[in-house]
Amino acid sequence: MFEKLQPAPPDKILALLAQYREDGRADKIDLGVGVYKDEQGETPVMRSIREAEKRLYEEQTTKSYVGLQGDKAFCAVMGTLVLGDAILGERMRVCQSLGGSGALSIIAMMINRARPNATVWLSDPSWPNHIPLLSGAGLKPQSYPYYDAATGAILFEEMMAALRGAEAGDIVLLHGCCHNPTGADLSLEQWAAIADLCAEKGLFPFVDLAYQGFGDGLEEDVAGVRLMAQKVPELAIAASCSKNFAVYRERAGAAILVSNDAGALDNAFSQLLSVKRSVYSMPPDHGGAIVRIVLEDAGLRADWMEELEGMRSRMVTLRRDFADALRRASNSERFDFIAEQKGMFSRLGLTTGQIDTLRNDHGIYIVGDSRINIAGLHHDKLDDLARAIVAVSS
Ligand SMILES: Cc1ncc(COP(=O)(O)O)c(C=O)c1O
Repeated sequence: MFEKLQPAPPDKILALLAQYREDGRADKIDLGVGVYKDEQGETPVMRSIREAEKRLYEEQTTKSYVGLQGDKAFCAVMGTLVLGDAILGERMRVCQSLGGSGALSIIAMMINRARPNATVWLSDPSWPNHIPLLSGAGLKPQSYPYYDAATGAILFEEMMAALRGAEAGDIVLLHGCCHNPTGADLSLEQWAAIADLCAEKGLFPFVDLAYQGFGDGLEEDVAGVRLMAQKVPELAIAASCSKNFAVYRERAGAAILVSNDAGALDNAFSQLLSVKRSVYSMPPDHGGAIVRIVLEDAGLRADWMEELEGMRSRMVTLRRDFADALRRASNSERFDFIAEQKGMFSRLGLTTGQIDTLRNDHGIYIVGDSRINIAGLHHDKLDDLARAIVAVSS
């Protein structure tokens, strides 16, 4: 059996991480990997999460299964965190997932049961894992224009023109906020226009929400998806807790379905649970339980929000200061877009050769599409970094 297999192509980001670890230079900089880092370059456990883990340890009396849906109280608080009171409870169903990726997968597999090989429209560019996740579930990826690399702007007219050419029943994947890899987010007016188009043409919006709280704020970052949920008859959301609760390895997330048709919603939700049963059965509990404890306890929740806000404002400041450093180094406004964009990622618009030179000559690690992790920047290295980037790219 195994001799019939060829090695799978290496994951480029993981390969870059391995190369970074082996690099002995003391002043090396990792801007590749997609996790939040503090000024010390660490990804610490959040205070509220640590406290929730202590409480769970004291209070948990059994490790028996929690059921296919997962922790129902976790599902309830996640539904409210994402959709607030924009949606009445009976229009929404939530189940626990293995992080955001797990939610994307099970929703895509459920959609594939409703509409085998349905076309799913993805932004160009999108998070590289979208294509394997969605096509692995049977869906057919197709791209819509999204980003103008020369100006850092969203190609909204082009995006809408492409989506006008989609067929009823096609899926439109949207990034809820902090678009990965570009950092270029839709405005509320653009969300409204897309929602209207989806409702008019019978397109199914599927929102990937992996960075709530990293862009403009916890509530602000979901204004678009909430508006969409009020305007369209049906949608699905894959919400990740990995980044905003810093629980990456715990694999906590939620798959959320919304519909105006209560009967259809119940059927879809039962199919979602049946997909889980067929691939991995019961969800793990620990990650969901600690997120639930934080969200249910007023004190822990307030502390979590404060820490999350600290992470968000650090990225906003880093964006502004890095754009300033690049402006000084290049004597131009070429990189000003970095200050305007949101969340953890932006693209520098460098060629593969320039990225290789940055790595080989300066110990600066950037992934192949020139996406950088803003949270990987250090305030005291911004000017050196900006000079190196300008030196290789001019
Ligand atoms: C756009 C996007 N969606 C989903 C995810 C999935 O996150 P996880 O499965 O770790 O919760 C990520 C993580 O990097 C992401 O960037």
